[in-house]
Amino acid sequence: MIKNIVIVLLLLVYCSTNILGKNSSNQITVSGISSGGFFAVQFHVAFSSIVEGAGIIAGGPYYCANGNVDTALSSCMVAPELISIDELIGATEYAADLLTIDATSNLQNSKVWLFSGTADTIVKSGVVLKLEEYYENYLTDPSTQIKTVYNYSAEHSYPTNNFGNSCDYLGPDYINNCNIDSAWEILTFLNDYTLSPPNSTFSSDNIIELDQSSFIPFGYSTTSAGLYSYAYAYVPTQCQRGTTQCSFHIVFHGCEQTIPMIGDTFYMNTGYNQIADTNNIIILYPQALATELNPKGCFDWWGFAGEDYASQDGAQMSTVKSMLDSLVSKYDFRI
Ligand SMILES: *[C@@H]1O[C@H](CO)[C@@H](O)[C@H](O)[C@H]1NC(C)=O
Ligand SMILES: *[C@@H]1O[C@H](CO)[C@@H](O)[C@H](O)[C@H]1NC(C)=O
Ligand SMILES: *[C@@H]1O[C@H](CO)[C@@H](O)[C@H](O)[C@H]1NC(C)=O
Repeated sequence: MIKNIVIVLLLLVYCSTNILGKNSSNQITVSGISSGGFFAVQFHVAFSSIVEGAGIIAGGPYYCANGNVDTALSSCMVAPELISIDELIGATEYAADLLTIDATSNLQNSKVWLFSGTADTIVKSGVVLKLEEYYENYLTDPSTQIKTVYNYSAEHSYPTNNFGNSCDYLGPDYINNCNIDSAWEILTFLNDYTLSPPNSTFSSDNIIELDQSSFIPFGYSTTSAGLYSYAYAYVPTQCQRGTTQCSFHIVFHGCEQTIPMIGDTFYMNTGYNQIADTNNIIILYPQALATELNPKGCFDWWGFAGEDYASQDGAQMSTVKSMLDSLVSKYDFRI
């Protein structure tokens, strides 16, 4: 009896430590725009033992805001000359020493795709250049592991090749038609296998609603965490059936792109789902919420939901990680 219990416990430990083990055929990658870009960097750096790459549009380096909204609004958006990469690397190493984020050695094999529009008036190109400098510090061969796209005259927006306002437009829904399929560029660069061309369309039946509120850590509410009650995921049919090995990609929207503000526009039109269909990728779209402390509904990259916002324990960080774990255990048939 006791022996059986011990075996069960050992199995549980074995499974839980292996649940998100690295595997080229079940990669986990992230991407995001603006605040979602900053947050995607944060998630990549904090969970670098499982996240293998990041696609960042108009985002900046880890811990750029230093827990301070004024720094977020100044250095990290319009005055990048004030960003000290040495200091941010120091802060990253400090967090890694405290074990509140994964060891930074995990970052060395990462892939990173960076986009900054030359016409971006909200997050200046210099901020993205600082992010490039940050990653250069950690990657083994930045020249092959980082791809930069800095030659589009895009305003602050998620750039697509067939949806949204004109490329130089600034305003909702912050999705612009810039003749570049960012989702495709990101996923083809980050994944270490060759992708098949996107499906011509996708089935909205494959969009599942997740009870995001149930993943919020104890002590937080949707309001204090700045998270909407629901998140969404695109799960291709073959991934739902569990007959195919699928990868995972998490996309973080930007400010003013929440469900109450723009409905399903972001996750229906940014181009990821069509690629997911033909390449066995499950796409998770976590959802932020506008609150008094977070009036634009941004993901937390300056600390409105707690001082530990950039660590694995951050309210939003741990919510997203728990949702990812849940998707992996539900759809990864090997577990
Ligand atoms: C990765 O997953 C594939 C497919 O399930 C499996 O055959 C392979 O052994 C795994 N590799 C590692 C390193 O776990
Ligand atoms: C940007 O550069 C890439 C690579 O050189 C090129 O393929 C693309 O057409 C350029 N785009 C614009 C808008 O200049
Ligand atoms: C492409 O989308 C169509 C329409 O939703 C669907 O019937 C088809 O199965 C999809 N193809 C793949 C490879 O998922």
